[in-house]
Amino acid sequence: MEPEQTPVAPQESEAHAALARRIGANIASAVQVRTETLTHLMVALLAEGHVLIEDYPGVGKTALARALARSIDCQFARVQCTSDLLPADVVGTNVYLQREQRFEFRPGPVFANVVLVDEINRASPKTQSGLLECMQERRVTVDVHTHELARPFLVLATQNPIEYEGTYPLPEAQVDRFMTKISLGYPSRGAEAGMLADHESGDRVLTLGPVATAADVLAAQDAAKRIRASEPLRDYIVRLLWRTREDPRVDLGASPRSGLLLLRAAKAFAMMQGRDHALPDDVQALAHPVLAHRLVLAPESPRRAAADVVSDAVASVRAL
Ligand SMILES: Nc1ncnc2c1ncn2[C@@H]1O[C@H](COP(=O)(O)OP(=O)(O)OP(=O)(O)O)[C@@H](O)[C@H]1O
Ligand SMILES: [Mg+2]
Repeated sequence: MEPEQTPVAPQESEAHAALARRIGANIASAVQVRTETLTHLMVALLAEGHVLIEDYPGVGKTALARALARSIDCQFARVQCTSDLLPADVVGTNVYLQREQRFEFRPGPVFANVVLVDEINRASPKTQSGLLECMQERRVTVDVHTHELARPFLVLATQNPIEYEGTYPLPEAQVDRFMTKISLGYPSRGAEAGMLADHESGDRVLTLGPVATAADVLAAQDAAKRIRASEPLRDYIVRLLWRTREDPRVDLGASPRSGLLLLRAAKAFAMMQGRDHALPDDVQALAHPVLAHRLVLAPESPRRAAADVVSDAVASVRAL
């Protein structure tokens, strides 16, 4: 049985689409970022997903996360992962107040709205799983007390693609929890020169003002969930997933969870186009950033085969 949901009126959809454009434009005024990357970030925000950023040092990852938080008038926190970072450093801890003879919960950085987790693969597996658990549950339990995380809540976790020494690569099950993987990469020469010029008068991110509120984002997230998806569309997603599982280049194909995430992302993307229903086009637009990073390739497959597997699935599975 499908739950009864209030459909999203076209004007409502368009209003949320305008919100996403406004946020995106505000971020782009301070950070050089490809339109596609920015779109994928907006999709994750509206679809309540988390984002894995695989990138080199100094390409604007921190700037991007900060710019997003400032644009939506939300709290930002950054966690630098190291091997001795403890789960309590991330989620928070109970401290004993001697005078009052009671415990008080001191929330950790995960209680911010936009949480940048730098070099997540440097954290110990225990800390990684603590963090990823609250990403999923959106609440934290410390000594039997449960604390709800802030809303909106978006984790951006970074991984350096070249440095592996002293790291604990994220297990597949953890990678699977991220809705999308994005990378900023180097800006074009023109954009980079423009960035140098901009920076002469200071870092724009630090003076960026909000163009939306947390409540606006929550309303858009709620509407994104109510975007319609037909049964044939859901069936299309499942057939795409199965195609990745059957591909000989792949040891482990896309999980059922990735199908849920792909559907949610497609709905948010449809809303960003001002539509009240999702189409195969929306699924196809998000198939790469949502599916490719979680495929486990057969040992003999080249590293970039994941992208080819997704492309081939999209090309060969009939849409409706
Ligand atoms: N694409 C970009 N657009 C605008 N500013 C940028 C960009 N890339 C880098 N910068 C500027 O360069 C400096 C370093 O960027 P930032 O700290 O965001 O990089 P990072 O990817 O987080 O680096 P690290 O890997 O060391 O954490 C900042 O002052 C930032 O404003
Ligand atoms: Mg940084």
